Amino acid sequence: MRSDSESLFEDDNFKIPVADRVKRLPPYMFGKINKVKHQMRVDNIDVIDLGMGNPTDPPHPMILEKINEAVGDPRNHRYSVSQGIANLRKEVAKRYDRKFGVELNHDTEVLTCIGSKEGFSHMCLALMGPGDSAIVPSPSFPIHVYAVMLAAGNVIALDVREPEKFLENIAYTCEHMFPVPKVVVVNFPHNPSSTVIEQGFYDELVKLAKKYGFLIISDFAYADICFEGYKAPSLLASPGAKDVGVEFTTMSKGYSMAGWRIGFCSGNSEMVRALATIKGYYDYGLFQPIQIAAIVAMRHCDDAIDELCVEYQQRRDALCDGLERLGWEIERPKAGMFVWAKIPEPWAEMGSIEFSMKLLNEAAVAVSPGRGFGEDGEGYLRLAIVENSQRLRQAVRQIGRCLRPGDDVAEEE
Ligand SMILES: Cc1ncc(COP(=O)(O)O)c(C=O)c1O
Repeated sequence: MRSDSESLFEDDNFKIPVADRVKRLPPYMFGKINKVKHQMRVDNIDVIDLGMGNPTDPPHPMILEKINEAVGDPRNHRYSVSQGIANLRKEVAKRYDRKFGVELNHDTEVLTCIGSKEGFSHMCLALMGPGDSAIVPSPSFPIHVYAVMLAAGNVIALDVREPEKFLENIAYTCEHMFPVPKVVVVNFPHNPSSTVIEQGFYDELVKLAKKYGFLIISDFAYADICFEGYKAPSLLASPGAKDVGVEFTTMSKGYSMAGWRIGFCSGNSEMVRALATIKGYYDYGLFQPIQIAAIVAMRHCDDAIDELCVEYQQRRDALCDGLERLGWEIERPKAGMFVWAKIPEPWAEMGSIEFSMKLLNEAAVAVSPGRGFGEDGEGYLRLAIVENSQRLRQAVRQIGRCLRPGDDVAEEE
C-alpha cells in the first residue's frame, strides 16, 4: 500500500541518497496496474476506469462562471492568505450550522486547505513526532497511514468495518498501551469499505477521547454523498467534540471540484492553530479565484448536491444489480463513492491484485485491489461509481464476458 494517486515512475528505488522517511515508504501497490492502464490508453483501448474516486461530473455552471470572472481580475493573481480568505471561512461556518447545527468561529475554528488530503497530512505533522502513535481505520485510505509515518509516528491499524467493535478496540488499546495513542483517525463514510455510523458513535468516541486524553481527526470527505435518506453525521455535532477534535471536509466530492484542491479543517481551535502554523511556513494559500468560486458554490449550489446524490445512487444500483446478476455478494453502500465488493469464488484465491490485473487486461475495467488498502483489504475490490450508469452497465457486461464467457447472464440489462 502506498499513495493512491496515479504514478508512472519506473520503480521505487532512488539513485540519490533520499531521506529515510522516503525510503521507509513501502513499494507502490497500484504501480503495475497504473502502468498497464496507461499503456492500454496509449494503445487506444477504452478502459472503464473505476479505480479512483475522481469525479467525472463537471462543477455547477455558476461555479465555473464565477471562477472565470474572478480570473479576469488582476487583483486575484497575487499570493492569497494561507488560512483562506475570511468570506470563505465564514461560508464554511454557515454551512456547518445549516447542515449539522454546529457553531464555528470562522477566525479560530476554520482553516482552508489545499484539498483535505494536504490538510490531513500536515495536521499529522503538526501533532505527531517520534514516539507518538495514532489509531487509524483499517482497511486504510493510504494517507491515513502514511501521513502518520511521514510524521515519524507509529500506526495502530484497527478494523473499522464493525463500528461497535472498532470503538471497543480503541478503548482496549488505550487501556493497555503506554503511552496512550495521541491521535485517533476516523473516516465515515469510510473509504474504501463504505462503512457508515450514526451520531452515537461520535458521542462515545468523544467520551473516550476525554477519558484517555487522545485527539480525534475526522476525515469527512464523503459528507455530501449519501443515499436513501441516510445522513452522514459530523463529529463536531457531538457534545464536547470541539474540545478534542477537528474534522476535514472537501469540495472534491459533493461539488465535483477534485482538481481544484480545496478543503477545510474545522473544530478545536488549538489543533486548527497548530495546522495553520505549519501551513503558514509551507504555503501561501489557494489561488484566490478558486476561493471566490467556492464561496458561490456553498452559497448557491447545495441543491445540485442533492441531485448528484440521486445520480450516484442510480450508478450504485446499476453496478450492484449487474454484479449481483453475475453472482457477486454485494453490500450496497449507504454513502460515499465506492462499492466494496468481495471477490467471488472461484477467483478469491487469486488475490485482489492479480484479480484486478485480470479485469484490466481481459475486461478493460480498472478497479482498485483491496490489498492496496492494507492486509485487511485482501479478498475485496473497490469500485468507484464515478462513471455514468450506462458505462457501469457496460463495465459489468465486460466483466461478465471475461469471467463467464458464453454465459447469457453477463449480457442481461
Ligand atoms: C477518505 C478520503 N479523504 C480525503 C480524500 C482527498 O480529498 P481532497 O481532494 O480534499 O484532498 C479522499 C479522496 O479520494 C478520500 O477518499
